[in-house]
Amino acid sequence: MALKTFLIFLFIAIVTISFAEAQSSVGIVHVNGTLYCTANGSPGANGNATTVFPNATLQVACSADVVANAPANATATTNGEYRVVLIPRPNATVDSIVSNCRLFVLTPLSTCNSALPSASLVSNLRFVRTVFISFLRLTYMVAVGFTLQL
Ligand SMILES: *[C@@H]1O[C@H](CO)[C@@H](O)[C@H](O)[C@H]1NC(C)=O
Ligand SMILES: *[C@@H]1O[C@H](CO)[C@@H](O)[C@H](O)[C@H]1NC(C)=O
Ligand SMILES: *[C@@H]1O[C@H](CO)[C@@H](O)[C@H](O)[C@H]1NC(C)=O
Ligand SMILES: *[C@@H]1O[C@H](CO)[C@@H](O)[C@H](O)[C@H]1NC(C)=O
Ligand SMILES: *[C@@H]1O[C@H](CO)[C@@H](O)[C@H](O)[C@H]1NC(C)=O
Repeated sequence: MALKTFLIFLFIAIVTISFAEAQSSVGIVHVNGTLYCTANGSPGANGNATTVFPNATLQVACSADVVANAPANATATTNGEYRVVLIPRPNATVDSIVSNCRLFVLTPLSTCNSALPSASLVSNLRFVRTVFISFLRLTYMVAVGFTLQL
C-alpha cells in the first residue's frame, strides 16, 4: 500500500516536472485591460467616469511564429474588460512576444459612439510581470496605448 502511494506520488511528480519544462519560460500570457469609448481607447479627461466600449472583439496577432494559438481572440465584457490568452511557443521569450505581437480592437470604434471613426485600434504590448501559480507560470501584459488603424 505504501509502495503504491509512493509510486502514484512519483508519477505525479514526474508529470508535473515534465509539464513545467514543456512550457516556455513565459508560461501562459494574459493580455488584459479595460477598453474605453474614446478615440484612443483610453480613459479621457473624465478619468474612470469615461464610458467604456462594451462587447468589442479583440485579437492578438503576431508577425513571427511565437504564439501557438495566434491569432488569439477575445470579446470584451459589457464593462469593457478584456483578457486575451496567449499560449507561447516553447522557444518564445517575453521580448520576442512584445516585439512581434500586437493587440487589435477589431470592432470599429464607431460601434460605441457614431461620432468616432469607423476604424479599428491597434497597440503594442508591454510586459507587466510573471507570477507563479503552483508550478504554472502566468505572464501579464497590457496594451501600451491604442492608435487608430487607418
Ligand atoms: C489583469 O488581470 C490581473 C489579474 O486578474 C489584474 O491583477 C490586473 O490588474 C489586470 N490588469 C489590468 C490592466 O486590468
Ligand atoms: C474613480 O476614481 C475616484 C478617485 O480615484 C474614486 O474615488 C472612485 O471611486 C472611482 N470610481 C469608480 C466608479 O471606480
Ligand atoms: C481568431 O479569429 C480569426 C478570424 O478573425 C480566426 O482566423 C482565428 O482562427 C481565430 N483564432 C482562434 C485561436 O480561434
Ligand atoms: C453586450 O453584450 C451583453 C450580453 O451579450 C448584452 O446584454 C448587451 O446589451 C451588449 N451591449 C451592447 C452595448 O451591445
Ligand atoms: C520557434 O519555434 C517555431 C515553431 O515551433 C519556429 O517556427 C520558430 O522559427 C522558432 N523560433 C526560433 C527563434 O527558434
